[in-house]
Amino acid sequence: MAKLISLENENNVYEYASNIIIDAIKNFTPTPQKPYLVLGLPTGSTPIGVYKKIIEAYKNNEISFDNVVTFNMDEYIGLDDNHLQSYHYFMYDNFFKHIDIDLSRVHILNGMAQNLEKECNDYEEKIKSFGGIDIQLGGIGQNAHIAFNEPGTSFDSLTHVQDLTQNTIDANSRFFDDISEVPTKALTIGLKTIYNAKMVLILALGNKKADAIHKATNNPASTDCPASILQTHPNAYFICDKEAC
Ligand code: PGA
Repeated sequence: MAKLISLENENNVYEYASNIIIDAIKNFTPTPQKPYLVLGLPTGSTPIGVYKKIIEAYKNNEISFDNVVTFNMDEYIGLDDNHLQSYHYFMYDNFFKHIDIDLSRVHILNGMAQNLEKECNDYEEKIKSFGGIDIQLGGIGQNAHIAFNEPGTSFDSLTHVQDLTQNTIDANSRFFDDISEVPTKALTIGLKTIYNAKMVLILALGNKKADAIHKATNNPASTDCPASILQTHPNAYFICDKEAC
């Protein structure tokens, strides 16, 4: 059963989630069978506070990323890595450039790939080759999407090409000069990819997310509410501030 963690404010949410990840990195002992801790990572405004706390722990010499591999959740189709709104750029700017991770162990879907289907299949295989995702961190959309899995996406979905809904395009237009510049398609890991992670942490801040959290945790699971797939996950947490709860 997914657990709903209700916390006082956003800083408590950042602390709660970052402590789980920092502790997992500290406690991880590589073995020949499992040389890397595998983190699934999101973009968006919600995780930035978590990244800041993890960076702080790195700067205080509490952790190193020598034994960490990362897979990002999603990427827009049609934006190159240097585009300021690409998730490649976001991740480098907000996280990777501040820590000691070897960039060869960072994986982000390539939204400029010639063959997008192959890109998706290869990504899924790559995740498998590292033994799956240990901790998947994510936000939630106002329409309850997780990664870019919009309402209606199958619970069996793996990494795929996704048409973005108008709701998502509207929400993400705040980062672009004009709404016409927001890509309408993305590559995203699937709902099954997320479900297959050993632990899932979904963060939600503010009353704009309250409806999505309510539906995800209270209504019967349905593809109308992608995050509701986590209801039956054995180790999933919705970590929310008061307003989102
Ligand atoms: P946000 O996005 O963190 O910017 O609110 C979350 C999401 O759309 O998944």
